[in-house]
Amino acid sequence: MKSHISIRNVNAFYSDHQALKGITVEIPEKQITAIIGPSGCGKSTLLKCFNRLIDLTDGARVSGKIIVDDMDVLNHSIDITDVRRRMGLLPQKPNPLPMSIYDNVAYGPRIHGIKDKKKLDQMVEKYLKIAGLWDEVKDRLKSPASKLSIGQQQRLCLARGLAVEPEIILCDEPTSALDPVSSQHIEQQLLKLKSDYTIVIVTHNIHQAMRLADYVIHLYLGEIVEHGAANEVFENPKEERTRAYIDGTFLSDMKVDEEIDLKGNVCPYNFVYAKQALHALPKGKILRMIVDDPTAVTEVPRGMEADGHEILSVKQRNKKEWEIIIKKQ
Ligand SMILES: Nc1ncnc2c1ncn2[C@@H]1O[C@H](COP(=O)(O)OP(=O)(O)OP(=O)(O)O)[C@@H](O)[C@H]1O
Ligand SMILES: [Mg+2]
Repeated sequence: MKSHISIRNVNAFYSDHQALKGITVEIPEKQITAIIGPSGCGKSTLLKCFNRLIDLTDGARVSGKIIVDDMDVLNHSIDITDVRRRMGLLPQKPNPLPMSIYDNVAYGPRIHGIKDKKKLDQMVEKYLKIAGLWDEVKDRLKSPASKLSIGQQQRLCLARGLAVEPEIILCDEPTSALDPVSSQHIEQQLLKLKSDYTIVIVTHNIHQAMRLADYVIHLYLGEIVEHGAANEVFENPKEERTRAYIDGTFLSDMKVDEEIDLKGNVCPYNFVYAKQALHALPKGKILRMIVDDPTAVTEVPRGMEADGHEILSVKQRNKKEWEIIIKKQ
């Protein structure tokens, strides 16, 4: 694994508040690295250190080293436009410029001195194609970007970022404002792009991280809890806090279709009721059962599993209550 961004002992402060504490990690080249962790743990701050966007925040200070290729990003004598040119940023909410679709993509190349119309036409087409938007907009390149759907606007922002030919793409929750289909479009494009770009994505969505990431960094309260190859971190986390975060996020993300409260029922009645409830559910739906009979905690899952259903979790909620989550098969 070749490293592309090398982060060494990075500390970041907003006035007195320390948002990043001694971050040391390598971001692999031409892979997708996901930064995961709860709200406020420093994910966006870390991303903003990479392209020095953090400079725009009053009172923010950063120490340590961030090396991209041979460039020391945090060194104040380097050319900041060079840093930003090497790293495209895909923001949380699409922010197209108030101009046409064409001009949005041509904006960066024009700033970098490209004036030739033919060359610009080629670049606009190339990057709209890479962003997976060309077919949808090729007949209305002169119409305002604001007329596109939100999902299309996000792909336009991706094309605009790519048109300055960066090496690295930074994405901060790039699909959180999008509907599921548009999110899937963006995810597909990112997966295609990783053969040519190093991609760092901040995401709340653990499922998205699992779909996309080759490498994972788990942050908590400004520190790295764990980092490593995605399959290892997700399947076999070394740290209990990572496991708890993944499991917890899974449960809170999980869409429960039906819930039954079986408190006050003992075995085998709770078992019978659970079976009835599952029977009434369509295949693939998720049932949560609340029980207070300790025998049910072992017996109900065992029986349901024997019937071919999938037990997603069994968890004690408090001294007297357990929840069992089952997927109907
Ligand atoms: N401009 C700022 N001024 C002061 N404190 C800030 C500023 N930006 C962020 N912070 C604080 O720094 C910490 C890290 O914030 P950051 O935005 O990096 O978290 P995050 O992991 O991206 O969270 P989220 O998932 O909610 O986006 C938080 O405690 C936050 O309140
Ligand atoms: Mg953030």
